[in-house]
Amino acid sequence: MEKILVIGAGGQLGTELTKALVNRYGADAVIASDFQESVRGKFDYCSFRTLNVMDKEASAKLIHEEKITQIYHLAAILSATGEKNPIQAWDLNMGGLLSVLELAKEYKISKVFWPSSIAVFGPDTPKENTPQDAFKNPTTVYGISKLAGEHWCEYYFNKYGVDIRSLRYPGLIGYKSMAGGGTTDYAVDIFHKAVNNENFTCFLQEDTYLPMMYMEDAVNATIELMEAPTTAIKIRTSYNVSGMSFSPKEIYDCIKMHQPDFKIKYEPDFRQSIADSWPKSIDDSAAQNDWGWKAKFDLTKMSAEILTKLPAYFNYNTK
Ligand code: SER
Repeated sequence: MEKILVIGAGGQLGTELTKALVNRYGADAVIASDFQESVRGKFDYCSFRTLNVMDKEASAKLIHEEKITQIYHLAAILSATGEKNPIQAWDLNMGGLLSVLELAKEYKISKVFWPSSIAVFGPDTPKENTPQDAFKNPTTVYGISKLAGEHWCEYYFNKYGVDIRSLRYPGLIGYKSMAGGGTTDYAVDIFHKAVNNENFTCFLQEDTYLPMMYMEDAVNATIELMEAPTTAIKIRTSYNVSGMSFSPKEIYDCIKMHQPDFKIKYEPDFRQSIADSWPKSIDDSAAQNDWGWKAKFDLTKMSAEILTKLPAYFNYNTK
C-alpha cells in the first residue's frame, strides 16, 4: 500500500492537495505534516504530524516508522517574504529539498513531488508564452532556490534514480486558505476584500500580467503528473504548466461584474519589480504532449466559483 507524506501541508497548496490525495487514496494512505502545530485543526480527516523538514533526524524517523512510500514536499518561503530574509529563504528552500532528496534516496521512496515556479525565469526571459527551455536569470532568492532545486531534482534522478517530479506553478489562486507571501497573492486577497465589501489596495500596477492557475487545476496537474507512467516523464527538472494570464485590472473588472460597488486602488511596492521580472504567460506544450495536461479554468469561471464559495467557507457574514 502507498503511504504518502505531505510536508508543508498547512500552506495554500497543501491545504487543498492533501484533501485531494485523501479523496483519491483514502485517509489511511496520507499523513499531513507541517512545522506549525496550529494547522492541525485543518486535518481532522487524516493523520497529522508536526514536522520541521529541516530536522532530518525527525523526518527520517517518521519516514521509517510510517513506511512512507511517496513524499510531496511543499514547504517553502515564497518570493515576497523571501526578499525580506534571503538567507533564511535559501536555507529552508534548499536545505529542505536536499534533506528530502537524501531521505528519498536512503529510504527508497518510490516517488517525490516538489514544486518549482515561474520565478525561475527572469528579466531576460521572453515574456509571452515563455517556452519550457527559455533562458533563466531569476532575480529573487526564491527563484534562485527554485532553479537550483530543479537541477538538484534532475541530478538525483540521473545519479540515484530517485523518481522526483516537478511543476513550475504559476500564481495559485484558491479560496480555502489565505495567501502566503507571494507576489501573485494579490489575486487571492482581492476576493476576500470583495466578499467583505472592503476596498482593495493592489501592490501591483493595473496592467501587470502574470501567469496564474486556479487551485483545482493545480491539484489536478499535480496528481496527473504523479500518476503518469515513469516513461512519460521526459523532463526531470520541472514542467511548465499554464492556466490563465491576467492583470489586476482584468481580475478587478471580472469581480466588479458580480459586485458593482467594489473599488480598487493601485499602490505598487517592491513586489512590482519581482512581477516585472516574470513571464506574462507560459507555454506548456511539453506537459500537454508528455502527460496530457490541460487546464479547465479561465478567469471568468474561476472568479464565479470563488465568489460563490468563499463567503460560506470562511463564514463571512456578507450582506
Ligand atoms: N506564487 C509564487 C510567488 O508569488 C510564485 O510561484 O511567490
